Amino acid sequence: MSLYPAIENFLKECAGISPNSTPGMIDRIVKRILDDRKFRNENEYLNLLKESQTEFDAFLEEVLVPETWFFRYPASFEFLKHAVVTFRKPIRILSVPCSSGEEPYSIAITLVQAGFLADQFKIDAADVSDRALEKAEQATYRKNSFREQEQTFAQQYFMKHGTEFQLKDSIRRLVTFTKWNVLQRPPAQLRPAYDIIFCRNLLIYFHKTAQSKMVTIIEGLLNRNGLLFVGHAEAGPLISNSFQPIEPLKAFAHCRAPAS
Ligand SMILES: C[S@@+](CC[C@H](N)C(=O)[O-])C[C@H]1O[C@@H](n2cnc3c(N)ncnc32)[C@H](O)[C@@H]1O
Repeated sequence: MSLYPAIENFLKECAGISPNSTPGMIDRIVKRILDDRKFRNENEYLNLLKESQTEFDAFLEEVLVPETWFFRYPASFEFLKHAVVTFRKPIRILSVPCSSGEEPYSIAITLVQAGFLADQFKIDAADVSDRALEKAEQATYRKNSFREQEQTFAQQYFMKHGTEFQLKDSIRRLVTFTKWNVLQRPPAQLRPAYDIIFCRNLLIYFHKTAQSKMVTIIEGLLNRNGLLFVGHAEAGPLISNSFQPIEPLKAFAHCRAPAS
């Protein structure tokens, strides 16, 4: 039972986030904000969230889960390396949500390693979090972002400054970042449709209605026969005639069905 049901509902409606995905977390965050800023009650804070986009964005930053790292689910990138050659160039790829950039930069590195030149593909990346997008643009990372990688990877594509790793400009300039709340209409720059979309580890945080809405939006952004990569526990909401899982299953790739 939530302590702050009205705020939770507003969050569900505006950002799709299901309180059940991170039990107790939203209650703890709201309680801290109400105490620190001396709001009299939940409604006083809720009214402010409704009136002020800045307040809402700041609240969102508190509840979003930005967890990501380079080459998360390595089998997806192995699969990408082989699958990408079947598309006509320039290949269009979208990473959403991209968080702090590790995912779209892993896609860029995969294409470079597969021998693609910069003008043979376009990678867009989007997220609702200003904080994550700022970090993505800076492309400076710490050891935590390299969980599944060997040291050689960092040496090849990053410059080490103390404890930080700065991504080289040759990779950094291959990705264009955009702010987008996926439950709203996609911004004009995310057009035309994509050949490949990475949409990983967001559906798990959404309630059912938001999941269906998001799948419909993603379907509209993906070409027929295009590839959709999801997270390891996210195939459920895709079960429809529109997406077929592809082997190997641990790549978590799905193909959008051709027109019937
Ligand atoms: C766990 S990270 C996933 C990052 C990456 N795709 C991965 O799998 O490593 C989840 C991201 O979803 C973003 N997010 C949450 N709700 C969103 C929304 N409604 N629209 C766009 N991004 C959202 C968060 O800001 C966060 O960066």
